[in-house]
Amino acid sequence: DKAGHKHFMAKEIAEQPRVIGEALRFYLSGEGDTIRLPGEGIDFTAIDRLSMVACGTAFYACMTAKYWFEQLAGLPVDVDIASEFRYREPPIPARTMALFVSQSGETADTLAALRYCEGKAARIVSVVNVAESSIARESDLALPIMAGAEIGVASTKAFTCQLTVLLLLALEAAHQRGRISQEELSDHLSALRSLPVALNAALDLSGKIKNAARKLSESTDVLFLGRGLMYPLALEGALKLKEISYIHAEAYASGELKHGPIALIDKTMPVVVMAPRDALFDKTVSNMQEVMARGGKVMLITDAEGEAEASDQTWQVLVMPRIDAVLTPILYALPAQLLAYHTAVAKGTDVDQPRNLAKSVTVE
Ligand code: M6R
Repeated sequence: DKAGHKHFMAKEIAEQPRVIGEALRFYLSGEGDTIRLPGEGIDFTAIDRLSMVACGTAFYACMTAKYWFEQLAGLPVDVDIASEFRYREPPIPARTMALFVSQSGETADTLAALRYCEGKAARIVSVVNVAESSIARESDLALPIMAGAEIGVASTKAFTCQLTVLLLLALEAAHQRGRISQEELSDHLSALRSLPVALNAALDLSGKIKNAARKLSESTDVLFLGRGLMYPLALEGALKLKEISYIHAEAYASGELKHGPIALIDKTMPVVVMAPRDALFDKTVSNMQEVMARGGKVMLITDAEGEAEASDQTWQVLVMPRIDAVLTPILYALPAQLLAYHTAVAKGTDVDQPRNLAKSVTVE
């Protein structure tokens, strides 16, 4: 049931404020200022590092979480693509927690990576959507993301729910390890509780994104740029666009622009820049200027402060609500998804069942 939407993907994008609210209700205590993990929980003082493994969009959720665990909790993190990890057979130091992220819980490479860690990692934890899946069953602890069934092949609400649960884990790790006070934890959690309101405001940009997407649908190549927490999201935005619109898209960390991809810039290639006004914003502005000086068309996704500082030479600016900096990947995922969605609709591709793709990749 598409609940009045044209596609499951549109329905699932629109559901995000609600399902993220549900994940928060599941993981936060009555007062909303304590994180409550199911089962026996996780002792983050008993581990020295985290090894995160996943595929596709779930891998980008892990890449995002690496910034959170390292910056908030001071916990070193390795992030691997499951198909690489399983055959590289990396050494797993003692006191490593292995963390697997999978919507379906049945991805063959992720499951094989999990089995490789059995008997090696101190603890095997998974973040899954399908509670009765193989990955959930074979983990010491399975954490649900509460997204509900995801039908569209392009993952949307599962991604933002994965991010929400991973951020809660990073905050819990930071608190247990004495890196943030109860007061700081409460501040982050209160910002998280107001996230659904900001997500609704982001959904309201759909009409504007639809107009921009009409133009984007005429391009053959699109570049996504982001720094820090926006870098994994740039990768996710590019993956979403190529999956459903079949437009070639790739993403780079903004700082890598002059190390190669700038050679591609001309007036035919739109560049999507995701950049809330944060400590790295000035650097991103100078990257944008490099693009525009070469005739590149920039679509900037930022907040009101960022808009005020950006050049008026930008092709499009999408203004997002301003929120706690750690939450920006969850919020900025929505315009990335909407951009891919409206571009695919403008091209007339099969949004929910893109060619050559399966919802769950249970074979190598
Ligand atoms: O079920 P999983 O989360 O393990 O699936 C991983 C990837 O196959 C999946 O995220 C894929 O990249 C999606 N099509 C992304 O939209």
